[in-house]
Amino acid sequence: MAKKILMIVGSPRKKGNTQRLAEAFQQGAQEAGAQVQLVNLAETPVKGCLDCGGCNKTGRCVQRDGMEAIYEGIQDCDLLVLGTPIFFFTVSAQLKAALDRLHSYAIAIQYKFPKKECVLLAVSGDPEVEHMQQVVTYYRTLTGRLGWTDRGMILATGAKARGAIEGNIALEQAVELGRKVAQD
Ligand SMILES: Cc1cc2nc3c(=O)[nH]c(=O)nc-3n(C[C@H](O)[C@H](O)[C@H](O)COP(=O)(O)O)c2cc1C
Repeated sequence: MAKKILMIVGSPRKKGNTQRLAEAFQQGAQEAGAQVQLVNLAETPVKGCLDCGGCNKTGRCVQRDGMEAIYEGIQDCDLLVLGTPIFFFTVSAQLKAALDRLHSYAIAIQYKFPKKECVLLAVSGDPEVEHMQQVVTYYRTLTGRLGWTDRGMILATGAKARGAIEGNIALEQAVELGRKVAQD
């Protein structure tokens, strides 16, 4: 059966480097037969969690926005891809908002997270890999605590301007990883 992949691209910049990296992964995964849903938070924005307690009562978030597609996609996906630019040494506010909003999903499933696989795609403007450190730590903590299996991280450094990721080896690595995760 085709692997179902939900991709969340957390850059506010349309057609930016994170989107490009995500498309490379998507290409590989689709070529290998996976069914891919890509949610781009620049096009379908997600607001932050209000901590209103609404989901504690109903298991459903009170807000209606781009999260609807993510709530739907996460139900039966086998693998999640988290894409983020590095913003001030960590994940973008856009991706963080979407991940915070998984709170109501966690409530709905009573924190019994089904087994899923996960991939991280990150892009930084500066060449130093240290800028990625907090994102890697956050990703490891998140996947570890939710019981998601890490299938790989693609860290593209030194790509600042829109399009600067072209020619970066990370694009080839992303195609390859997409193919690999779709096959097994
Ligand atoms: C608000 C902001 C903060 C940033 N902070 C960092 C940073 O801490 N380290 C870094 O290497 N690049 C940083 N960058 C550069 C972005 O990571 C880089 O431009 C990236 O390619 C953006 O991805 P996108 O095109 O998908 O939006 C920052 C950019 C912005 C707009």
